[in-house]
Amino acid sequence: MSHIAYVNGRYLPQKHASVHIEDRGYQFADGIYEVICIWNGLPVDYAGHLARLNRSLAELSMRSPASAGALTLILKEIVRRNHIDKGTIYIQVNRGVAPRAHAFPGEGVKPSVVVTAKHGAGSPESVAEAGVKVITAVDQRWDRCDIKSVGLLANALAKQAATEAKAYEALLHTSDGTVTEASVSNAWMVTPDKVIVTHPATQAILGGITRATVIKIARAAGYQVKERPFTLAEARKAKEVFLTGTTTFVMPVVQIDERPVANGAPGTIALDLRQRYRAFMDGLTETAWNV
Ligand code: PDD
Repeated sequence: MSHIAYVNGRYLPQKHASVHIEDRGYQFADGIYEVICIWNGLPVDYAGHLARLNRSLAELSMRSPASAGALTLILKEIVRRNHIDKGTIYIQVNRGVAPRAHAFPGEGVKPSVVVTAKHGAGSPESVAEAGVKVITAVDQRWDRCDIKSVGLLANALAKQAATEAKAYEALLHTSDGTVTEASVSNAWMVTPDKVIVTHPATQAILGGITRATVIKIARAAGYQVKERPFTLAEARKAKEVFLTGTTTFVMPVVQIDERPVANGAPGTIALDLRQRYRAFMDGLTETAWNV
């Protein structure tokens, strides 16, 4: 079955879908994106993803390509046409097509929109039950990681280094040893006295939608959560380390570089939060599309 993509007003078989060579997304990475998990045919944290999409557009002075209602219809149609039960949808908005020049083109240039879908959501439970290894890498990104920009070369290089080391992710840190996040997910640790810690949602990280939901779920479950920077040294001595993200859910980390985290088994808090997050996804209803 061929995948159907939405490109600037048309639904096309993905292999026939294309964008213009002078699209600014292609030439300048002048575009933003969102990845939304589809669970039982319903979007996870749709309102949060849409709010972040609009925030990214506003931060880059880009026009919104469609109203929330129109975009929702497109996304529902992409889910339907691709028969997605559990999967992800990808939305990319670029500033548009114009002769190559660094400064923004005139008002008349319309943003380009692409929506695609993939089957398969999250890693198999067996991966979470075993826990994953991460490597560490210097965070080489720009200073506006809060914008979900398609300029992902530094993220791709870090993820490639992880893949070559047979690791699941790369934990990114600044030169002073502060852990910002990971290449495609947010990073967390649990202190020896059971405080859950994650970097505050500043310009140094992407404010993950999963991160925000997991903070709520954790607090509701009675855990203490602190949003503060932590160092690699703290993470190495932590009781637990874990990751969160749309394609990760909650993932226990059992090894950082060549050293085990605590006793090398997945942390009980991370596993509990994963289960609670899964229960939240299982509980979605049609209202999940409301914004
Ligand atoms: N990325 N940090 C980075 C750098 C990310 O790329 C992502 C997600 C996250 C987690 O954010 P959220 O919980 O909103 O998915 C954190 C998506 C999945 C991607 O680029 O494919």
